[in-house]
Amino acid sequence: MKHPVFAANWKMNHAPADATEFLRQFLAHYPRQQDRTVLIFPPALTLHAVTAGLKERSDILVGVQNIHWEDKGAFTGENSAPIARAAGARYVLVGHSERRHVFGETDEETGKKVAAATRAGLVAVICVGETLEQRECGDTESVALRQLRAAVANVDAHHIGGYMVAYEPVWAIGTGKNATPADASAVHAALRKDLRSLAGERGAAVPILYGGSVNSGNAAALLGASDVDGLLVGGASLNAEAWTAIVRT
Ligand code: PGA
Repeated sequence: MKHPVFAANWKMNHAPADATEFLRQFLAHYPRQQDRTVLIFPPALTLHAVTAGLKERSDILVGVQNIHWEDKGAFTGENSAPIARAAGARYVLVGHSERRHVFGETDEETGKKVAAATRAGLVAVICVGETLEQRECGDTESVALRQLRAAVANVDAHHIGGYMVAYEPVWAIGTGKNATPADASAVHAALRKDLRSLAGERGAAVPILYGGSVNSGNAAALLGASDVDGLLVGGASLNAEAWTAIVRT
């Protein structure tokens, strides 16, 4: 039996008042359920509105979309893992393709961020995935595995299992072109095998989410694919009705 994870990545959308209204609609249609995990990643400045809106709903957890790798210091504009934790975040997205490709984040930096998250007690959701060019060159699995290894390079064996992985092919993000369930399964199986070789059964139990143009129409098929433990949803998570349909998959 799967215990699926549904994660909403709002990216740079939803001001505090929008988040409050979103939660009003979503919570009215999504009663507490024990058999799934629901996560929301709002923009950092909207985090407070989301934690306030979830005061009575400890079943839904909140994360930030990015952190700096240092715990504090002179890094104008950045947020640290301890600050995110203190503000109510329990999760953090690390290595999202927009961080890598729009902001130039390197494999090494994602590794330092995962270490910072682990130190602060945040669960890192490590995002990996190939570009269209890499896919066409046959490098899909090697890119995902290289990004995974770099992301966990500074995590000691004891902490392996304290994070999640999200496979998000870059060409599928925000394009309306999702990976097929079979394509997703193949990459997830390769990631699972690598996680097992890193940390045995604890590694194999790390949830592996699929992300990239997930919507209420394709969620069931993707979630039904082998080795897909959950969904990381961007665009379709912004609309309370669409998001409710997805988490009820
Ligand atoms: P999308 O984004 O669902 O809009 O494709 C997914 C993501 O970037 O996490």
